[in-house]
Amino acid sequence: MRTETPITIRLEDYRPSDHLIGTVALAVSLHPSATRVRAELTLRPNPAGRPGAPLVLDGDDLTLTGLALDGVPLPAEAYVATPTGLTLANPPAGPFTLTIETVVDPTANTKLMGLYRSNGVYCTQCEADGFRRITYFLDRPDVMAVYTTRIEADRDEAPVLLGNGNPVEAGAAGPGRHYAIWHDPHPKPAYLFALVGGRLDHVRRDFTTSEGRTVELAVYVESGKADRAGYALEAIARSMAWDETAFGRAYDLDVFNVVAVSDFNMGAMENKGLNIFNDRYVLASPETATDSDYAAIEAIIAHEYFHNWTGNRITCRDWFQLCLKEGLTVFRDQEFSSDMRSRAVHRIGEVRTLRARQFPEDAGPLAHPVRPRAYTEINNFYTATVYEKGAEIVRMLRTLLGETAFRAGMDRYFTDNDGTAATVEDFLAALAATSGRDLDAFARWYERPGTPRVAVQGHYDAQARSYRLDFRQSLAGAPDGPPLVIPISLGLVGPDGPLAGATAERVRDGVFVLDRASDAVTFTDVPVPPVPSLLRGFSAPVRLDMDVSDADRLTLLRHDSDSFNRWQAAQAVAMRLLVQGTRSGAVPETAATAFRDALGAFLDAEALADPAFAALVLALPSEADVANEIGAEIDPDAIHHARHALRRQLGAGLAERLRGLRDALADAPGTPFSPDAAAAGRRALRNAALDLIAAADPEAASAEATAQMADATTMTDRLAALAVLAQVPGEAREAALERFAASFRSEPLVLDKWLAIQAGIPEPETPERIRRLQAHPTFSASNPNRVRALIGSFSMGNPTQFNRPDGAGYRLVVETILALDRTNPQIAARLLTAFGSWRMLEPKRRGQAQAALTEIRSVAGLSRDVGDILERTLAGS
Ligand code: TRP
Ligand code: ZN
Repeated sequence: MRTETPITIRLEDYRPSDHLIGTVALAVSLHPSATRVRAELTLRPNPAGRPGAPLVLDGDDLTLTGLALDGVPLPAEAYVATPTGLTLANPPAGPFTLTIETVVDPTANTKLMGLYRSNGVYCTQCEADGFRRITYFLDRPDVMAVYTTRIEADRDEAPVLLGNGNPVEAGAAGPGRHYAIWHDPHPKPAYLFALVGGRLDHVRRDFTTSEGRTVELAVYVESGKADRAGYALEAIARSMAWDETAFGRAYDLDVFNVVAVSDFNMGAMENKGLNIFNDRYVLASPETATDSDYAAIEAIIAHEYFHNWTGNRITCRDWFQLCLKEGLTVFRDQEFSSDMRSRAVHRIGEVRTLRARQFPEDAGPLAHPVRPRAYTEINNFYTATVYEKGAEIVRMLRTLLGETAFRAGMDRYFTDNDGTAATVEDFLAALAATSGRDLDAFARWYERPGTPRVAVQGHYDAQARSYRLDFRQSLAGAPDGPPLVIPISLGLVGPDGPLAGATAERVRDGVFVLDRASDAVTFTDVPVPPVPSLLRGFSAPVRLDMDVSDADRLTLLRHDSDSFNRWQAAQAVAMRLLVQGTRSGAVPETAATAFRDALGAFLDAEALADPAFAALVLALPSEADVANEIGAEIDPDAIHHARHALRRQLGAGLAERLRGLRDALADAPGTPFSPDAAAAGRRALRNAALDLIAAADPEAASAEATAQMADATTMTDRLAALAVLAQVPGEAREAALERFAASFRSEPLVLDKWLAIQAGIPEPETPERIRRLQAHPTFSASNPNRVRALIGSFSMGNPTQFNRPDGAGYRLVVETILALDRTNPQIAARLLTAFGSWRMLEPKRRGQAQAALTEIRSVAGLSRDVGDILERTLAGS
């Protein structure tokens, strides 16, 4: 029952702003409920705009308290001010200054956009359109200005005052008040504005750039938490050094500040010189953070830092170009993490995320191009497609151009576009110019939604000792569209290893480029029928269809030179077993035994040499992976049972080896903690082993897990043990959960893990348990991390209970969405995306999901955020 029809914004309607802003002088006087903001803007007509056009400034929930033009208060008839805009019908034809005064209430700001308070700390979030909740402005990324910010506050309430750029001056400002002035010399769009004020502790260090600039790095955290900020601080320094060597990009201010806040809608934000983070991506100690937490902190610190060049120095012309900064920056942070850790292991993790989040999005009602052409609510387009598939596009470009030409193209992109608001076309033009390549056909990747399929058939000719691969590409929904340019990294493997002597004319540096609907490649000098290793390193975000026997796949697991495809081979065998097990109700016995034996041999040969990789090989495709593979008429219970059966079989057959590995990989007592990839890999394999053992022998594993919880010196080991215990109903589980909660009573980030584990229990009592937890003192419906931990983990990570045939799982989530929509629509809309695959379900569950969605639709006054996701999810039904 939505009343106002939302406005659709279209890429093709882009036109430059009629006015430009040169400088912004902001004076912000912080107060819990009435913060006064004075903005002095120097405006001028844009030569590229319409002469004499009215000045229309954006606003959102604003109250105007003063307005002057060139210092003279404007009479009421000269403007129109509403909460959502400020219009001057006849602005001066030349340059002028506008002074705007507004009052905002940071305490009442539950949307966490604009200026708000998190645990008493004043902070801002302006991307994508939050600055207009602070003052009236031309809130669009192609309007770039130089900002000077004076922040004033009670010294008691906010001893620390931070802004963009460099600190200029600070001092007293009347009884109990003080101020700080910050100046950012780099022109930027309003979405990169930030300020912070609060009682914060910090850690700091210096970093000297390749250009000889000494930069003071600091990480600010809520008071008392400075001892958990050190890892993030060092990660900043590593990121700065890496961007200098990998991309020739040095930092460009005298300070770089990171602030961690506990109420935050997303992961982190790249505000110029003042990155603001969800504290879960900053705070770490061995006792409270898992190895994945450490890895995520390093990756997100890097991501936000790398935005300084890809996003800030070169920003986006409009929000349709979001992938220009996000896809490229994700690619950069992935490369960084690969260099800091194991490249092969990291690549597998990237692809797991892509398949778990982006492939389903691309296959469902929320599918959209990496560069969308239209939106009604831009905040709903910070998606796996824009980020993750956007990064894959950049990776394909590097594969196609080669490392050297790609780097030259990136250099060219930076020099040609520095200081501007650019487009995807600008990016491609730079890469095309330096490489001499025509990228027009490649550019279709930005326009086409959906995951392409590549069907492959192999033909061996014993007489000619040749092997031909026939490729055919297709894209659902665009059967007659022009083909995509798909780089396929490949090679041939024989019974004893890669067939290095086999070559094909059209394969250069191990890559075949499929740029027609169908094509073929012929290898010569192939002495035996080979097993093709296709899409090595996952060289393109496609689904590969090829009929390969388990035996051939297991040959790849043993012998391929490409680690990714070795892992992929094991996954594919497991997937086939799981799909068959789901369909027939029983996992095929002989095939499962062969798989188990292959895994056993693999573990014997390699587990100790590369435990992190071995842990990934042991991890079966998730229930959601199996659902996505099956793709229609999904019965989550059947998938759950099949997966459990296979885990039980593998665990039983491998138990002795797995126990041996657990012993061999245990740290000697007194080993100092290290979060590095090697130590994390050992923990990962030990815990993967425990998980498989538990599937076959829950009793014994419970005892082992209980002991591990008691002895653990890391959160990784403690949590892995708790997760194992959580799978086994009974007293031991409840006692372990209680002990865990008691030990971490005042650690909200740790309790999030505790909430998530409970939300994931695949038992009918779980919805009830969740309702109980919602009433627990640690839970807070206004904190996005808490909501994601409890409700997000349930809807995204508990397929059997979320998709219950009685609809109770959906009802629980819908209740939360509706309640949250009134306070924080962005988070409500995020939760709603859990319904994105509802059409794939079997009829009973599909009906329940549709009923749940229809119920949301019947509610009056839904936010634009939720309304947009809802209508797209239901479209066509
Ligand atoms: N640009 C941020 C990033 O690095 C993400 C972001 C967009 C964001 N909008 C936000 C973060 C709103 C917090 C709140 O990817
Ligand atoms: Zn980003």
